[in-house]
Amino acid sequence: MTRVVVTGGSGKLGRAVVREFVEHGYDVVNLDRVPSPDAPAEAVFIRTDLTDYGQVLNCLIGVDDRYDHVDAVVHLAAVPAPGQVPDVALITNNVTSSINVFHAARAAGIKNVVWASSETLLGIPMGEFHPPYIPVDEEFAVRPQSSYSLGKAVEEEMARHFTRWDPSLKMIGLRFSNVMDVADYDGFPWDRDPEKKSFNLWSYIDSRDGAQAVRKAVESDLTGFEAFIIASPDTVMEAPTIEFVERYIPDIERRSEIDGVSSLLSSEKARELLGYAPQYSWRDGR
Ligand SMILES: NC(=O)c1ccc[n+]([C@@H]2O[C@H](COP(=O)([O-])OP(=O)(O)OC[C@H]3O[C@@H](n4cnc5c(N)ncnc54)[C@H](O)[C@@H]3O)[C@@H](O)[C@H]2O)c1
Repeated sequence: MTRVVVTGGSGKLGRAVVREFVEHGYDVVNLDRVPSPDAPAEAVFIRTDLTDYGQVLNCLIGVDDRYDHVDAVVHLAAVPAPGQVPDVALITNNVTSSINVFHAARAAGIKNVVWASSETLLGIPMGEFHPPYIPVDEEFAVRPQSSYSLGKAVEEEMARHFTRWDPSLKMIGLRFSNVMDVADYDGFPWDRDPEKKSFNLWSYIDSRDGAQAVRKAVESDLTGFEAFIIASPDTVMEAPTIEFVERYIPDIERRSEIDGVSSLLSSEKARELLGYAPQYSWRDGR
């Protein structure tokens, strides 16, 4: 059986990812500071501080009688947004955890690494440095605007060099949009307050579709570094997307027609190269 380590498997996205892998027949190990409130019985939990390299290396080589090797690593653990802890504490936790995971995976001979990058690399929150064009894709240089997204930019750059050192290594950074669980849909749609969701161009990702993207990234036979935008195909709004473009970003370059409620974050690259096929929308209710 393929064994996948998921860091941050007790978190919002991590819980969906752990479920996805268990349901698809993987052995799953969750490395997190805290246990998951609703982990499937099959998943192993190892309480781990990812900022401690020794602990991370131990967990990627094997832990006593729990397991003895790891085939793939999905690294999701992080403080997941700016402003939750002081700036330098945030970037220190996130980037230290990531270099520890990347380095330990290399030392343990694990060639399959997928981790959570972020939409915030794309010029989000929207403002002076908003994306250069819509729909937003992966083709322009990242433009981090916070300590949080600066950390994600550093991680992508580290991955670029890890794969340069070892071209047989796969390192996929998934630039997730704002992650939503089913319970969050009680607050949808957001038309009453479009400004609140303008920061990320009214986009989101259902946690179950995010988990599917993670599994497909782990299963893909790509090598080298790749970044993918992972967003739901629709917005968080009921009104057509073009209305918000005309109201908030009328001068932005439009590279294709904006149909209906389609998202301004394009996941076409993930559809093409990973076979990502999102299935859930807040419009379908619970
Ligand atoms: N939530 C979003 O909207 C969003 C959007 C884009 C990207 N992301 C990224 O996706 C990933 C998962 O986000 P989430 O929303 O599930 O976050 P979350 O806060 O719900 O879960 C993160 C988990 O990581 C663990 N963790 C953090 N630092 C740790 C450390 N040093 N050692 C051990 N465990 C540690 C926490 O205990 C927590 O369980 C993060 O990397 C985040 O940056 C999230």
